[in-house]
Amino acid sequence: MKIIHSIQELRKELHMRRFDKERISFVPTMGNLHEGHISLIHRAAEKADCVVASIFVNPLQFGANEDLESYPSTPEEDEAQLLATGSVDFLFRPRADEIYPVGQENHTIVEVPNISDVYCGSSRPGHFRGVATIVCKLLNIVQPDFAIFGNKDFQQLMVIRKMVEDLCLPVKVIGADTARAEDGLALSSRNGYLTPEERAIAPNLHKALTQAKEALLDGQADIKGIEARANQFLDQSGLQPDYFEICNAKTLEPALRSDQQMVILAAAYLGKARLIDNMVVDGHKNNT
Ligand code: PAF
Repeated sequence: MKIIHSIQELRKELHMRRFDKERISFVPTMGNLHEGHISLIHRAAEKADCVVASIFVNPLQFGANEDLESYPSTPEEDEAQLLATGSVDFLFRPRADEIYPVGQENHTIVEVPNISDVYCGSSRPGHFRGVATIVCKLLNIVQPDFAIFGNKDFQQLMVIRKMVEDLCLPVKVIGADTARAEDGLALSSRNGYLTPEERAIAPNLHKALTQAKEALLDGQADIKGIEARANQFLDQSGLQPDYFEICNAKTLEPALRSDQQMVILAAAYLGKARLIDNMVVDGHKNNT
């Protein structure tokens, strides 16, 4: 695994790989890697000959009052984990001035309308603009055949898919299953903020999603009622819900009972952490 800090050097290396007819997979991350990231690397290795991972904590996707300064950074551990997979050819770890040489404020922005403004986008204004901008830039630097993202960030994945489609970027975007702890908690770098007591409470987010999914599959018609019960359950469990919404999985509009595929999107605060998770529901099962 070669560690590269400059865009120019990475491009040179990848040019040679492409010349040798290798297919390239790319896994962008912000570091502090866990099993979820490693499962993305395995997926990337299944798809292509050459695997590129990146670690860049993108300041543009953090709001003024968010955790940019305290975002966990574990460079040695990250490198060791990536090396241990035996699958990563290049780790791209640029400095901020390599990515934003003219400063963030003067940088061109990629804005994906509408779906960037709801749910996480409404609680974190500008977040998806930052994500779309960095992902677009990284895709242009790496020019991979495949780019792998976790399904845990369902809305992020939709924003990226729409950007790739709208801008005709020549890459296939792949969503990989959410890696979970045994008690159901979706793995996330931000789980590291949880105290032991909070960690015991955290799986209730997954439990609330599971209960809502069961209610939908049972044929319960009152979507707003299901959401209200989930919010109440989260409150009583010690989580502070940000949103819990049952949506159409293709448009992220509020779901109708007739929708073929729904997704339940949820975010909740717990101590210093803001946890997000989701669950897809195959709607047609309950319309019979
Ligand atoms: O999901 C993440 O870790 C980040 O949002 C991403 C896609 C690496 C962009 O900074």
